[in-house]
Parts: sequence; structure tokens; C-alpha cells
Amino acid sequence: MADITNIGLYTSGGDAPGMNAAIRAVVRTALFYNIKVTGIRRGYEGMITGDLFPMDRRSVSNIIQKGGTILKTARSEQFRTKEGRQIAYDNLKSFGVDALIGIGGDGTFKGASVFGEEFDIPIIGLPGTIDNDMTGTDFTIGYDTAINTVINAVDKIRDTAESHDRLFIVEVMGRDSGMIALRTGIASGAEHILIPERKAGLASLFDRLENGRKDKTSRIVIVAEGENEEGGAFEIGRKVKEKFPHLDTRVSILGHIQRGGKPTCMDRVLASRTGVAAVEALKLGYRGEMVGLINNEIMFTPFEHAIKHHTDIDPNVIRIVDMLSL
Ligand code: F6P
Repeated sequence: MADITNIGLYTSGGDAPGMNAAIRAVVRTALFYNIKVTGIRRGYEGMITGDLFPMDRRSVSNIIQKGGTILKTARSEQFRTKEGRQIAYDNLKSFGVDALIGIGGDGTFKGASVFGEEFDIPIIGLPGTIDNDMTGTDFTIGYDTAINTVINAVDKIRDTAESHDRLFIVEVMGRDSGMIALRTGIASGAEHILIPERKAGLASLFDRLENGRKDKTSRIVIVAEGENEEGGAFEIGRKVKEKFPHLDTRVSILGHIQRGGKPTCMDRVLASRTGVAAVEALKLGYRGEMVGLINNEIMFTPFEHAIKHHTDIDPNVIRIVDMLSL
């Protein structure tokens, strides 16, 4: 058992729906075990500027259903430097913080990994990102909400596509990952998906448009933001128009709408379960690990391993998209 008295809590990187549910779970669990919680605003940036404040039971009332993060978030350049991290550590010490819980994605855990090695402070991470690109959890907090936002939007696009007999190229988020595109492609009945992991490029889409059914009245192609080989959604749209001038093609980029909104039940439960587990892990002496859920069970993965993205997209799932969109 580790003697933890004051947990510093922060969110970092891109926000994700469910982060507030995770904050609530951490605060309430810590208080349950008589551990203090210090909120840190704007992630690593706030550690450096000293934007720290005590949190109590009521500071997390009525937030479980809210999108965004009440702790705010940022990406910090200064934390990349040794001097910046030293200032952050000194600020944490002056507030009596003796452990950290960080909620975020790749960048958050890279920072936590370096910080935890340089200074003697145990850190546990919660996977909070819509991208679902962490190793060590089946799903990240925010992913379920984001994919539901995407299919709601694509269903609306389908209405207008169908009315006008159009092809829509829809770009979804996922900086280096096709996970959002893959699931929403299946769920929206997309004609085709383009994701960075597949490396099939535009040729696969052209083949589909040339040799697929000709009597389709609307077509949706989902493109992951990280699929950069073809120059992004607008460039893909331009090339499709050039090669298939008879298809009435439009491009729609869903953008940051995917990061907002009320978290789904799945995200709230995932956030609550991992939030509780994070505090209990610190009490047990864990450090430098991300807590996730694999096959519905709490699992811990060292930061260095968690930040190695899933690149193992299941080829069977891609096969499903192709087969069902005949
Ligand atoms: O990592 C989450 C994410 O939403 C990515 O999918 C996207 O590429 C990125 O953040 C966008 O970041 P920003 O908010 O800085 O535009």
C-alpha cells in the first residue's frame, strides 16, 4: 500500500466527452478514501503556471452528463522542456500533491512518462480521447460518443445525398487513426472507407466506383483525417470529380463537432470504472500505467506501451464494409 495524501488531477490534449465523468469518479473515490484532490487547470500548462485548486465533493456535482472538461485542457510546449517540468514539479510540491492522475491521449501519456521518470511522483493515466488509438483498452473515453455524433451527422448527409443523387466524401477525425472512420463506415452503410492503416489509397475507391453497382442513388465515402496520402478530403473530392464527372460529388468535413456533446452511457460508465480504478491503483502503489478496460475487465498498461497506437485494424472488419455496401 502506498501512502497517498493528495492527488493532482488534470485533463490534457484534445477534450473528449466523458472526461467530466472521469473527473467526478476520481474526486469522489479519492474522498471516499480520505485522500485530498487538487484540480489542475489546462493540464501541464496549469502545472507550470500554478493554476491549482482544492476540489471537494461538490466541485464535481452535476457534471457527469456534460461534454468537454471542467478542468479545461491544453497542449503545453513548455512542458516539453526540462526547465518547464521542474517548475511544474515545484508547483505540485508546494500544493502538497504527492501523486497524479492524468486524463488524455497519446501526448498526455508521453508527458506523464517522462515526468514520472524524472521526478519521484506516481502517475496513473486514464484514456481520454475520441480517437480510440491507445493500446491497453478496448475503447477510450469519448470514442463511443464521437462515433454516435458521426453517424447522426452522416444520416443527415445521407438524406440530402439521396435527394440529389449525390456522392459525399465525409471526413471524420482521427489524427493517426482510422478507428472512427471504420466503425462509422459500417454503421452508416458507407460505400467505402479510406483510413491510414489500410494503405489502399484512392485506387481502391476508384475501383469501387468503376466496378460497383451503377444504379446507386447516393454514395457515402468516409475518409479518416489521418489518411493524408491523397492530400485530404478536398483533394480526394477533386480527384473523384475529375475521374467521374458524371457523379455529383460533394465534400463534408465534420470537424470539432465530433468532440462535443453529452457523453453516451457507455462513455460515462467507462469513465466511472476507470476513474475508480485509477485511485485504487495509486493506493496499491501502481505508477506509470494507464488504466483501461479489456474484455470488460480493468487492466493496466505501462505508458510506453499504451502510446504505441493500435495499428492492428481487423481486416475482417474492412471486409465487412466492402461486402455490405454492394
Ligand atoms: O486527438 C483528438 C483529435 O480530435 C484528433 O482526432 C484531431 O486530429 C485533433 O484532436 C485535433 O486537434 P485540435 O483540437 O488541436 O484541432
